[in-house]
Amino acid sequence: MPRLSADARHNVRLEINGRAHEAEAEPRMLLTDFLRHRLGLTGTHVGCEHGVCGACTVQIDGAPARACLTLAVQADGASIRTVEGLAPEPGRLSVLQEAFRRHHALQCGFCTAGILMSLDWYLREKPDPSEAELREFLSGHICRCTGYVPIVAAALDAARRLRETGESK
Ligand code: FES
Ligand code: FES
Repeated sequence: MPRLSADARHNVRLEINGRAHEAEAEPRMLLTDFLRHRLGLTGTHVGCEHGVCGACTVQIDGAPARACLTLAVQADGASIRTVEGLAPEPGRLSVLQEAFRRHHALQCGFCTAGILMSLDWYLREKPDPSEAELREFLSGHICRCTGYVPIVAAALDAARRLRETGESK
């Protein structure tokens, strides 16, 4: 582990959604702030800032992680996916995003990026989840608007469509 100086800025290099990024960060800067303020990737939201709400969830080296519990310098060299990387091409939503749109699974949208990033991973790991399994998995995310019913419906619908079409996104 490299020694960092608290009053110095350190270079952080990341691959984000397939593109190389590099910027400076203080040792205590959170990955959320690095993504949003240093790189302008504001799709990742910040709610509680202590690992409870799930709004800040991104994928780090293929697995979902709370960006508010990760220091930017810790992620140096990692491959990161954020909500900006979900759509397969400009103007086209992913199967999961499209299911959220169809089922009205978002209202204010504050929680949505984090939920999408978790579900994107989960549906690859478990392509045919039961409703109970989905509800258990989503218990790590707080939504204050939707009541969760449309989110679960969208996730089940997306899972079915991904299985039927064989698409990965
Ligand atoms: S902002 Fe990271 S879990 Fe709430
Ligand atoms: S849509 Fe508003 S918090 Fe989930």
